[in-house]
Amino acid sequence: MTDEPRDPKSHTEVHRVADPEATRVAGYLAQPDEVGRVLLLYSGGLDTSVMLKWIQEQYEAEVVALTVNLGQPGEDFEVVRGKAMDLGALDCFVEDAREEFARDYVLPAIKANALYGGGYPLFTALGRPLIARLAVEHAHRAGCDTIAHGCTGKGNDQVRIEGTVATLAPDLGIIAPVREWQMGREEEIAYAREHGIPVKGGTEAPPYSIDDNIWGRSSEGGPIEDLQEPPRDDVFELVSRPEDAPDQAEHLDVEFERGCPVALNGERLGLVDLLERAAEIGSRHGVGIVDHLEDRIVGLKVRDLYEVPAAEIILTAHKELEKLVGTIHQNNFKPALENQWAFLAYAGLWHEPLREDLSAFMDAVNEHVTGTITLRLYKGRATPVRRSSPFALYDPELAGFGESGGLFSQAASPGFIELWTLQSRMAFGVRNRGKGTG
Ligand code: ARG
Repeated sequence: MTDEPRDPKSHTEVHRVADPEATRVAGYLAQPDEVGRVLLLYSGGLDTSVMLKWIQEQYEAEVVALTVNLGQPGEDFEVVRGKAMDLGALDCFVEDAREEFARDYVLPAIKANALYGGGYPLFTALGRPLIARLAVEHAHRAGCDTIAHGCTGKGNDQVRIEGTVATLAPDLGIIAPVREWQMGREEEIAYAREHGIPVKGGTEAPPYSIDDNIWGRSSEGGPIEDLQEPPRDDVFELVSRPEDAPDQAEHLDVEFERGCPVALNGERLGLVDLLERAAEIGSRHGVGIVDHLEDRIVGLKVRDLYEVPAAEIILTAHKELEKLVGTIHQNNFKPALENQWAFLAYAGLWHEPLREDLSAFMDAVNEHVTGTITLRLYKGRATPVRRSSPFALYDPELAGFGESGGLFSQAASPGFIELWTLQSRMAFGVRNRGKGTG
């Protein structure tokens, strides 16, 4: 036998060497020895608090925390920051991203009348790409090599966050401790007790998974998973029960300029304030409760209970205004594109070029979506009752039976009907030839 250098690609070689890269499920997943400093997306809740300690222990890594304010009602971000520091974070940044969220994520969704599955206005889905982008920026600035988040392996949020990070920052690794640590809620609480992590509400806290921002609030899990059970009252924290809403209806004027809501009842407001105000008014009238059965991107079906008072009000008014200013062709065509827009946003493909192309279309249509819609709010319903726009394609003279001007002649209608139905009549005749249809 001669001492020939071995061909590294020979079959024997391939079988003999265990290549750790071959078992890496995704290129962006960080291996333990690659993790030195972690940017953790921190909410202050149980999962990410346990995680803050767990990463330091398991990876012997430093942790920098980031908390993003998207208008979660009632959150005290100074308390969240303090908690992160107590748990050993090198630093904890609190980023107020409400303006950007409203302008660059919620507004395009309004222009697209975005609803997934006919009921979910996407507040969580819209927030994730922004949170992920801020994580990337802070990770780079703070010298982190890895981003960690608190999503489980069963949901859409892991897809949105990891997909966005991998798109924007191929240099960063990602870890998702909840997917690997095999702790249930009980074990997490035990871990928290052992490590001096305060547990909000103790074991008695309602067992729901909550996510919220200025565009809505969701509850999942626990008793909600039982499809035989109607929603329990302890789920709802924002919207009052329709049966408890005032007996007196309230009228609300919602004014738009080029598709953007700009005033409520004649008072001009910035978008963040306007959405908060709309949520308040809607909540009082029980508007925006959605019991939603949803097809997740990862295949599972899930039941979500949504409280979306602002979205219910703004989208209802916006759709109504579009009906008034859009042509029959625009109005019939746009929903198909809206559906596609909502699906891409839901599915974590915010940076997909088609999503941006569709947004450009929505912007173009919305150039003329200016005017005011009055909604009647009453016991869980928001119903348009008044409409006006300088671009309205509505002319009571033409629509009524009065003498019409030069644009429309009733006398021409039979001629139109004859031509409009020509092919359908011919097809009917041909297909029924000899059948004696009389
Ligand atoms: N099902 C919704 C979605 O996929 C809401 C998710 C809420 N997230 C949460 N972590 N609770 O967007």
